[in-house]
Amino acid sequence: MTETGVEIQVFELVDGLQEAAARHATEVLQATTSGQDIRIALSGGSTPKRFHVLLAESEGIDWSRVHVYWGDERTVPPDDAESNYRMARETLLDRVAIPPEQIHRMRGEIDPTEAADEYEQTLRETFGVEPPDVPRFDLNILGAGADGHTASLFPGTAALEERERWVVANHVPQQDSWRLTLTYPVLNAARLTLVLVSGSGKADAIRRIFDPNEPDKPPAAFVQPDGQIIWLLDEGAAAGLER
Ligand code: 6PG
Repeated sequence: MTETGVEIQVFELVDGLQEAAARHATEVLQATTSGQDIRIALSGGSTPKRFHVLLAESEGIDWSRVHVYWGDERTVPPDDAESNYRMARETLLDRVAIPPEQIHRMRGEIDPTEAADEYEQTLRETFGVEPPDVPRFDLNILGAGADGHTASLFPGTAALEERERWVVANHVPQQDSWRLTLTYPVLNAARLTLVLVSGSGKADAIRRIFDPNEPDKPPAAFVQPDGQIIWLLDEGAAAGLER
């Protein structure tokens, strides 16, 4: 039975946040030892790096049953310093034995529209689902930017309106670039979502997400999954919350 609901956990230091995230993820991934395939979507950015290193050190995971995807990707080659795939490879994938055919990166190096179409097909084939069903990740890792974006769902961009497609190429004027991103239908189907947010620079975004009177909710506020969502914050990021 998938748990539901929203939980906010605040940690004095970012290490506590990272360790808690690794514990939650390990709990999900340990189902692999009873023969269950687990599908996870990873986030980009810098916050997940320590979480990945800790997860790679976790016990009791049969990595041969883990299938890895991404929530978003930059339109760069996989060896680029900006690549979310490269960050995950260096901090997690090179440290655990996941069969290469179970690592499904978004191909940021090709035409973004083609890459989005290709990834949509990858999801259909590997989850074995067709619309109107939606691929349901067992675990979805997200971050949030100071502007309240999550994945590559940035304020004021077209991808925010997408309710049919699972993956889109999203032009992000504020980044002067194209991004690949999962859309809300997929993000909101996940069984467990962990949102890792650290630093005082994110405090206003977190306030806007949770303030019921906020008139201009940022994109991350609309991640309201069917399953459980746990926001893991450090004191800096949580500074704007009523507590
Ligand atoms: C990306 C991420 C993005 C990230 C936030 C926070 O591709 O950049 O998917 O949504 O989670 O920008 O990034 P930091 O963890 O670096 O603050």
